[in-house]
Amino acid sequence: MEYKYTSKNEMDTIELAQNFESEKFPNMIICLDGELGSGKTVFTKGIANALGVKESITSPTFTIVKEYDGELPLYHMDVYRLDGSIDGTGIEEYFTKGGVVVIEWANTIKEYLPEERLDIKFKVIDEDKRVLILRPHGVKYEELCEAVL
Ligand SMILES: Nc1ncnc2c1ncn2[C@@H]1O[C@H](COP(=O)(O)OP(=O)(O)O)[C@@H](O)[C@H]1O
Ligand SMILES: [Mg+2]
Repeated sequence: MEYKYTSKNEMDTIELAQNFESEKFPNMIICLDGELGSGKTVFTKGIANALGVKESITSPTFTIVKEYDGELPLYHMDVYRLDGSIDGTGIEEYFTKGGVVVIEWANTIKEYLPEERLDIKFKVIDEDKRVLILRPHGVKYEELCEAVL
């Protein structure tokens, strides 16, 4: 099953992310892909809002994983520079730590991702418009998409 969502502006993308209510979903794994500037970090901001994170979200450029305190911890990753291998990074440990995991450029480490997860592909249509293709893997994520979209 695949879901398509058209976002008309930044706020739309943030609201969609908030609607996933990740605060109720420890170990949620969300995998984001799409070109630079397509909205991956904006989407992460919506997840952070739902979790009640006070700190502002920035792209984790200098670290692979950035941790934020919230109702559940948020683990925000950018795996672009890993070049396909996660050896020695300890990334797998975050998948079962009880927090919410958001991975930008997740396709880079595709073979290491948990089977149960939500994949979202961002496509730039014009300055403000984005198309999001959401692919849930596993019953939990299918139900979640069914509820939200
Ligand atoms: N519908 C939209 N959804 C998300 N971001 C949007 C949208 N329309 C315009 N934007 C802009 O696109 C940029 C997305 O940046 P960012 O989330 O950092 O991208 P990425 O993390 O994918 O590189 C922001 O400047 C944001 O304001
Ligand atoms: Mg980003």
